[in-house]
Amino acid sequence: MGYYNSSSPQPSDEVYDLICIGFGPSSLAIAIAIQEMIPESRRPKVLFLERQQQFIWHSGMLLPGSKMQISFIKDLATLRDPRSEFTFLNYLKEKNRLLDFINLGTFLPLREEYNDYMQWCASKFDDVVSYGETVTLVEPIKANSADRVNQFLVHSKVGGIEERRLAKHVVVAVGGRPLLPKPLPSYHPRIVHSSQYSSRVPQALSDANGAYRIAVIGAGQSAAEVFSDVSAKYPNANTTLFIRGDALKPSDDSPFVNEIFNPSATDKFFRTPAEERQAQLVENRATNYSVVRLELIERIYHDLYVQRLRDPSGKSWKLNIQNHSEITGFNDISDKSVSLRMAHRDNGVDSVQTHEFDLVIVATGYARDMHKELLAPAKELLSDPEVERFPVGRDYRVQFGEGKVSADAGVYLQGCNETTHGLSDTLLSVLAVRAGEVVDSIFKPTSIGNGANGHSNGHAAKVPAKKVESYSNGNGHNGVTSNGYH
Ligand SMILES: Cc1cc2nc3c(=O)[nH]c(=O)nc-3n(C[C@H](O)[C@H](O)[C@H](O)COP(=O)(O)OP(=O)(O)OC[C@H]3O[C@@H](n4cnc5c(N)ncnc54)[C@H](O)[C@@H]3O)c2cc1C
Ligand SMILES: NC(=O)c1ccc[n+]([C@@H]2O[C@H](COP(=O)([O-])OP(=O)(O)OC[C@H]3O[C@@H](n4cnc5c(N)ncnc54)[C@H](OP(=O)(O)O)[C@@H]3O)[C@@H](O)[C@H]2O)c1
Repeated sequence: MGYYNSSSPQPSDEVYDLICIGFGPSSLAIAIAIQEMIPESRRPKVLFLERQQQFIWHSGMLLPGSKMQISFIKDLATLRDPRSEFTFLNYLKEKNRLLDFINLGTFLPLREEYNDYMQWCASKFDDVVSYGETVTLVEPIKANSADRVNQFLVHSKVGGIEERRLAKHVVVAVGGRPLLPKPLPSYHPRIVHSSQYSSRVPQALSDANGAYRIAVIGAGQSAAEVFSDVSAKYPNANTTLFIRGDALKPSDDSPFVNEIFNPSATDKFFRTPAEERQAQLVENRATNYSVVRLELIERIYHDLYVQRLRDPSGKSWKLNIQNHSEITGFNDISDKSVSLRMAHRDNGVDSVQTHEFDLVIVATGYARDMHKELLAPAKELLSDPEVERFPVGRDYRVQFGEGKVSADAGVYLQGCNETTHGLSDTLLSVLAVRAGEVVDSIFKPTSIGNGANGHSNGHAAKVPAKKVESYSNGNGHNGVTSNGYH
């Protein structure tokens, strides 16, 4: 299934109605919303570009036993349409596990199962996704001698080959990029960000019985999961969790607080003055950031207690938590070990210590700013190109300066709008509803097909390549090529 017949080769000068950059949960929810909100006869021409070779949800952190942090009812469809075929419950029914899942008595599936659910959804859109393709730039275009930008040229790389495609609308849904503490280099064989934990740690530490020295940095859910998992996988290793604060603290998912993740809370938050929004983000930070699910905190505490029981002297302890610690320096000893300079504060006394490790795992979170690089050529279309953020409306559409972009073209941002749309923006909480809002804003399903807004009836508009004019001029991207899917 899928909503565009892509089996035939694509003409080189076609224009997509929409290209979505990244095919994670945000874009997958959009694929589903398009399929369910727009009748087949009026389906727009859409393409999803994903740099991974297949749909996989945070593959580096699909740790055994790790659970979802959200009710399965907030899946990719239910809150928009509980009768959708893409609900988690329908997935369970199709996989013949509905009753067994009910017997588990939980709202929180394993992350492994939720990934399988999303892969099941994604498999239904194989004909409109190009995997293994990394988008590098989005360039505004004035096609057909228009007086304002009316298309976007999406540049990408697939297996070393450059691709370019035209689209009326672009959704940027690329997730976060790993954040590392300042003193650390962006790559070192002995330093691994939590997002690459599963793929890189087995290469770095090949002996499961090795007496390695391992540091885990951070006090959030990723750090706690990694600390617990790595110490179980390497029982003879000395594993230390370094945290800046006092202690691991639990995430607040209590019911009144959890209302900030209701779709209706997005409207309220968006209408709130910017200063007040910032204060609310700080007030509710412990719902999501630098916090750990209580169940896991209790498990870690239990493991530390058992060591204390067995060796009151502490000499043989394999697990340690060092609080009030921050990395201030780094030394590259060899490709087998590194040394970290750490600032400690103990009972008000500051000290600096140097520790050597065979592996440092940094679970220090993510930055959600990759759209800025991709959209750099479009920045001059903003009414104030010097602003730090790309301003977006409630419908997630970038607000370019008056008269700069045609009404039937635009760029939408997903997952990087926490400051305007609230803490749910980076999460799964509102995806089903948000995808519907984006589809509504782009395709206005009621007017599709009447030609008034420039959307096609399932066929790409043909634009002679020579009429395409690069907005940013003179950079040689005027000839547009597109080989369709790969
Ligand atoms: C380990 C972990 C567990 C989580 N668990 C939960 C949870 O239980 N509940 C919850 O609500 N939230 C959770 N989150 C938050 C998470 O952000 C969301 O679950 C969700 O992944 C957001 O979806 P997304 O599509 O916006 O971003 P992502 O899932 O990050 O997807 C972005 C996609 O874009 C692709 N991409 C990036 N750059 C490019 C490019 N230039 N060209 C092409 N493709 C590109 C990436 O490969 C990726 O597939 C978790 C986060 C992590 C790190
Ligand atoms: N099973 C799951 O569902 C699951 C698993 C993992 C992650 N997630 C989700 O993924 C998102 C990100 O979580 P995360 O744990 O990766 O990141 P996070 O919540 O942003 O936590 C980052 C941690 O790194 C610390 N840190 C940041 N910079 C540092 C520095 N320079 N030096 C030392 N410490 C530093 C922070 O310290 P401070 O506390 O001092 O600021 C914080 O404790 C969240 O939404 C989370 O819920 C979900």
